[in-house]
Amino acid sequence: MATNDFLPINGTDYVEFYVGNAKQAAHFYQTAFGFQPLAYAGLETGLTDRTSYVLQQGKIRFILTSALIPGSDIGEHVKQHGDGVKVVALWVDDARKSFEETTKRGAKPYQHPITDKDENGEVVLSGIHTYGETVHIFVERKNYTGVFLPGYVKWEPEYRPSDVGLKYVDHMVGNVDWGQMNTWTEFYAKVMGFNQLISFDDNDISTEYTALMSKVMSNNNGYIKFPINEPAKGKKKSQIEEYIDYYRGSGVQHVAMATDNIMITVGELRKRGVEFLTVPDTYYETVSERVGLIDEDLKTLQKLGVLIDRDDEGYLLQLFTKPVEDRPTVFYEIIQRKGAKSFGKGNFKALFESIEREQARRGTL
Ligand code: FE2
Repeated sequence: MATNDFLPINGTDYVEFYVGNAKQAAHFYQTAFGFQPLAYAGLETGLTDRTSYVLQQGKIRFILTSALIPGSDIGEHVKQHGDGVKVVALWVDDARKSFEETTKRGAKPYQHPITDKDENGEVVLSGIHTYGETVHIFVERKNYTGVFLPGYVKWEPEYRPSDVGLKYVDHMVGNVDWGQMNTWTEFYAKVMGFNQLISFDDNDISTEYTALMSKVMSNNNGYIKFPINEPAKGKKKSQIEEYIDYYRGSGVQHVAMATDNIMITVGELRKRGVEFLTVPDTYYETVSERVGLIDEDLKTLQKLGVLIDRDDEGYLLQLFTKPVEDRPTVFYEIIQRKGAKSFGKGNFKALFESIEREQARRGTL
């Protein structure tokens, strides 16, 4: 790790979604995705304007937050974007310094550093704006031993479906508006000290109809990876453009969650009703030529719809859910890395053709 890293990050702390009905969303993430109940804040804990449920699986923590009153930022966010990601929180050792270093490099402040305390210690929180209405919160929790953050109580419902083996956030992708990819990759480089890993242009990633451009930004230790996509002109509307239209601007497109055994995880998710994009059977006719020998049984992968890609360092297994809201916006990726550090570029074409079939059904292609 570079010693001159001005923004050391230990990992993703949590992802907060602003949603229309946090209680029902929490039930969905428990039942369908196997998230475990962790913490709660709402009327019972003295809040008057919102309710938040915190769920955890492996190291992945989601907060689902809804407004209790009209006219709040939360309600306005949902009205504008539908259910979506508001906060990508980053776990740091020094939230004051993180705020200072990023704002002096041009980040727009969202939350000046504050200290929150309860009987379990204290946390320092600060925040900056990123693309669209999305924000980063820096969370310093080294002096805190409570269940989540001050203000939250343990959430202990009787209903606890088992987890599905999801371990950590592998990467989180942002879709940004036309012509804004470089603005935001430069933001991550200049303001947050990230490096660019890879870039694709529309020659790499295009089908007959749709195209996109993408660059992957990563922090110094590689724990945080943010691919940034922008739409590119195709014959018809790309899925990135569709997202931008329905989300009404830039926002988080997908959260990729890692597993150690994609066959068990995906088998379980399918059983629980999670819907995945389908790939044509023809994909599996040629995949062996492209990726060579793999440990897994290809027939089983085909049955589960798992995609395979290889790079210089190994291979990866991945697949994508359909959007999990009414609007065609946020979805999830399930990924298992077997040496590969890339993002499945070889699968993009097969995948996009699959997404286009979905778009055609929605009449938005
Ligand atoms: Fe991804």
